[in-house]
Amino acid sequence: MSDVTVSEPQVDTSGRPTGRLLEVDNLRVEFRTRDGVAKVINGVTYHVDAGETLAVLGESGSGKSVTAQTIMGILDTPPGFVTGGEIRFQGRDMLAMSAEERRRIRGEGIAMVFQDALSALNPVFNVGFQIGEQFRVRRGMSRADAKKRAIEMLDLVKIPNAKQRVNEYPHQFSGGMRQRVMIAMSLALDPQVLIADEPTTALDVTVQAQIMDLLAELQRERQMGLILITHDLGVVADVADRIAVMYAGRIVEEADVHELYAKPAHPYTIGLLESIPRIDEKGQQLRTIRGLPPSLLKIPSGCPFHPRCPMAQPVCVEKVPPLLQLGPTRASACHFAEELVSRD
Ligand SMILES: Nc1ncnc2c1ncn2[C@@H]1O[C@H](COP(=O)(O)OP(=O)(O)OP(=O)(O)O)[C@@H](O)[C@H]1O
Ligand code: SF4
Ligand SMILES: [Mg+2]
Repeated sequence: MSDVTVSEPQVDTSGRPTGRLLEVDNLRVEFRTRDGVAKVINGVTYHVDAGETLAVLGESGSGKSVTAQTIMGILDTPPGFVTGGEIRFQGRDMLAMSAEERRRIRGEGIAMVFQDALSALNPVFNVGFQIGEQFRVRRGMSRADAKKRAIEMLDLVKIPNAKQRVNEYPHQFSGGMRQRVMIAMSLALDPQVLIADEPTTALDVTVQAQIMDLLAELQRERQMGLILITHDLGVVADVADRIAVMYAGRIVEEADVHELYAKPAHPYTIGLLESIPRIDEKGQQLRTIRGLPPSLLKIPSGCPFHPRCPMAQPVCVEKVPPLLQLGPTRASACHFAEELVSRD
């Protein structure tokens, strides 16, 4: 047995972790493929504190999942390689840690819920065995005790008749219930940070809302830092504290959720907001952002959004806009960000 342990975070009077839990700092990842080098993550910086929800938003292929996989230490290497940056958990760079230390952080420090619960669960074991595995392997519990804890976890995620359902197999659960099982598994070791990667996209709208509510409730109760990955701005309005918007492997805007909705400071965010369907505009055609995300084998010069941007100017083709801090909680990577936030 290793004596490596996850260092304890600062705690408040009730024993809950406080402060900054996870920081991704200027992360760079590339995939070396037969077609060339795809620069998938190009300097991503974001953080999550105890008790807050950060939504990471962006179109398909913007690098949301690869960033999460790199945090979890499950990047597909090769072809994926980290070429720069740091990922700090409670101040310590995880990329510099031993494999054993990272393994310990996985599950206890940071856990992840995947989009597709059916393929993430093993079809040949009942859910009690799969949840219980964490208690058996990581906590050294007996099979009977691990099963008891698995039932408690199913109760926690509000699966009715947990005592019976613990013996059932993944295919016996509905999509929403399976996602609850995944959440139960991810929370088994009481992580401080939970990354939920598109946890509701495979579900219908009513069930989506139920799973979101459950995640929000568990996050509040446990004072976890929650990173909620989604491509749907509509989903995050009620649950997120802050939003980081990704485009072509960069953060292009970061803001408090209310600030971002009230006054987006990046044309890409404006485009995303305009493509949310609104109940009061039934029947009106949905606006979408013109064009497609760029090939990551050949990212456009200057601002990578310029070929699609309705505000683009010659400077946008020449100069990469840095992520500029515009206020205590907001930053934007657009040459005209200050003009966007100062307009009425
Ligand atoms: N194993 C891999 N090999 C080569 N390229 C990969 C691999 N995994 C991801 N990529 C590429 O990395 C880029 C970012 O992918 P990623 O899965 O992070 O996107 P995403 O933002 O999560 O999108 P989505 O909303 O579709 O989940 C994509 O262009 C993808 O093709
Ligand atoms: S820098 Fe230029 S191209 Fe990029 S988002 Fe701003 S206005 Fe558009
Ligand atoms: Mg993804």
